[in-house]
Amino acid sequence: MKILIIGGAGYIGSHVAREFLDRGHSVTVFDNLSSGLRGNLFPEAGFIHGDILDYTGLSRASAGFDAVVHLAAFKAVGESMVKPEKYSVNNINGTVNILNAAVEGGIKNIVFSSSAAVFGQPEYIPVDEKHPANPESYYGFTKLEIERFLGWYDKLKGIRFAALRYFNAAGYDIKGRIKGLETNPANLIPVIMEAACGMRETVQIFGSDYDTPDGTGVRDYVHVSDLAIAHAMALEYTSKNDKSITVNLGSETGISVLEIVEAARRITGKPIPATIVGRRAGDPAKLTASSKLAHELLNWTAKYSDLDTLIKTSWEVYKNQQ
Ligand code: UD1
Repeated sequence: MKILIIGGAGYIGSHVAREFLDRGHSVTVFDNLSSGLRGNLFPEAGFIHGDILDYTGLSRASAGFDAVVHLAAFKAVGESMVKPEKYSVNNINGTVNILNAAVEGGIKNIVFSSSAAVFGQPEYIPVDEKHPANPESYYGFTKLEIERFLGWYDKLKGIRFAALRYFNAAGYDIKGRIKGLETNPANLIPVIMEAACGMRETVQIFGSDYDTPDGTGVRDYVHVSDLAIAHAMALEYTSKNDKSITVNLGSETGISVLEIVEAARRITGKPIPATIVGRRAGDPAKLTASSKLAHELLNWTAKYSDLDTLIKTSWEVYKNQQ
């Protein structure tokens, strides 16, 4: 298939582009490089330097593709609470442009990167797709609204979508082909990696008094290569079955902050100083996914999301920064 990957120069997008290329698809990346990196582009893929807020450029770029994978969004939860305007314009208006350009260009399939942030505080775990969606951040709200837009464009315009609700994406390409670092990361594993290679002094552990076995927050970390595979499977599903889906993507395993810090010390051989500080607002104690539906519909399960693979593949990239 001819696939346009919007946001394909970013951390997750570049892994998704790699996976589609590996499967023999024709790939073009569309990215404004605001957080994506030229170094994340592959010579076998086309590249269009464009912005989803420029409708004319976007609709011109979209012509002739069979499918769009949409990963272009701002994703900092904290920032979304102080700058909602930025998230409204980029995440929501940008997606409406993508949908309209898809309609205009006759593109029938869209894979959308949604997030576990649509759920908010979990009422039960593991969180399945029937769990109520009550986002706690404006970021999560934009993702949920986009899912609703997708639902309407499915009904009214026959666009089939796969909304993939990622849990905690982490790790780097298993084969070491992607090396772009995220700038100013807020997520735990890149923060730990930065501390391991000396880019920052210490890791702050946000709370050690949660109702979890060691008192630190428990999350479901899913390897970015597993996520990339799910995109390819999801597109195959929506295009073959002419049906839209919304699925959770997680490893179904809970790992605590302390377990990650300790594994990172062991694997990197670095001391990685860590300080316990207060809880971060809005953080649940525990969040894990049920990915049963992804397994049933797509035959997808996480293969690379064990703790050691997550840390080892990350360290392969970060150790070069020392
Ligand atoms: C992350 C993403 C969110 C995404 C969600 C999917 C951010 C900020 N959050 O949430 O966009 O939708 O996954 O589930 O990008 N922690 C520390 N110290 C740190 C950083 C994190 O102790 O410096 C802890 C947190 O309190 C939490 C765990 O590590 O318990 C994971 O945090 P993080 O990587 O930020 O991801 P989430 O907040 O779970």
